[in-house]
Amino acid sequence: MPSDVAKPVEPTPPPAATETSPPAATAEATPASAEAAPAPASAEAAPVAPPAPEPEPLPPRQGSPLNDAALDQLFRSARTQYGWTGASVSDEDLRAIFDLMKWGPTSANSSPARFLFIRTQSAKERLRPALSSGNLQKTMLAPITVIVAYDPKFYDYLPRLFPHTDAKPWFTSNPELGQETAFRNGTLQGAYFIMAARALGFGVGPMSGFDNAKVDAELLSDRGWKSNFLVNLGHGDPAAEKPRGPRFWFDESCLVL
Ligand SMILES: Cc1cc2nc3c(=O)[nH]c(=O)nc-3n(C[C@H](O)[C@H](O)[C@H](O)COP(=O)(O)O)c2cc1C
Repeated sequence: MPSDVAKPVEPTPPPAATETSPPAATAEATPASAEAAPAPASAEAAPVAPPAPEPEPLPPRQGSPLNDAALDQLFRSARTQYGWTGASVSDEDLRAIFDLMKWGPTSANSSPARFLFIRTQSAKERLRPALSSGNLQKTMLAPITVIVAYDPKFYDYLPRLFPHTDAKPWFTSNPELGQETAFRNGTLQGAYFIMAARALGFGVGPMSGFDNAKVDAELLSDRGWKSNFLVNLGHGDPAAEKPRGPRFWFDESCLVL
């Protein structure tokens, strides 16, 4: 069945315990089976066979698999967008995407990504000189171009975002770790942004073909943020999509030890 056809999905049962399941029998996990055990036999009662051992409790699941229509929208049918319908993207849409994106995990909950949404023609003109020629037209026509940036001084917010420990000195005492953490987690949040936008029905076109230093100087310097990559955001025109590129097979990219 082609991946862009929604298939009815039966609810998936929880996985059976396997050798690869993490050990789950903990002191906290046992009371239920203890309650279910038969009452102790009295001295007069005939001996009975011990009850069959309870199966090991399964680790708690984080949720159920999304249905195929959702997986198609997020991954299998989702395509990088290069052209746009006339449909606009509202401020409420941007907030809705952000409010999903923000729940993605970052190290020490550092949340270093910052997002500058470019919508107006005048703001687009400030971006124009930094764009590579191949990225110019689609960016100028996109309803929104997102500058996915990061705050190199993300650690200033750790007392609020990670209050149960004093994490700020981890990064102020080690600038290299601070930069690495800002970039790694800012990139992750950019990816969460892409998936949040797709989850809400928008099309995205990420781009790294631009001059970061020019963008930083023109649009980010007052806040000290650094640009990472750009994302055109809107409702994609399928006619402008490029042929789907192949992907690696599992065995080419993965090892299981
Ligand atoms: C971080 C990043 C940077 C990219 N930079 C550019 C770019 O500068 N210009 C461009 O046309 N496409 C760019 N792309 C688009 C990729 O080529 C595209 O996402 C990839 O080929 C997969 O296409 P598909 O989603 O349609 O399968 C970029 C994608 C990512 C994720």
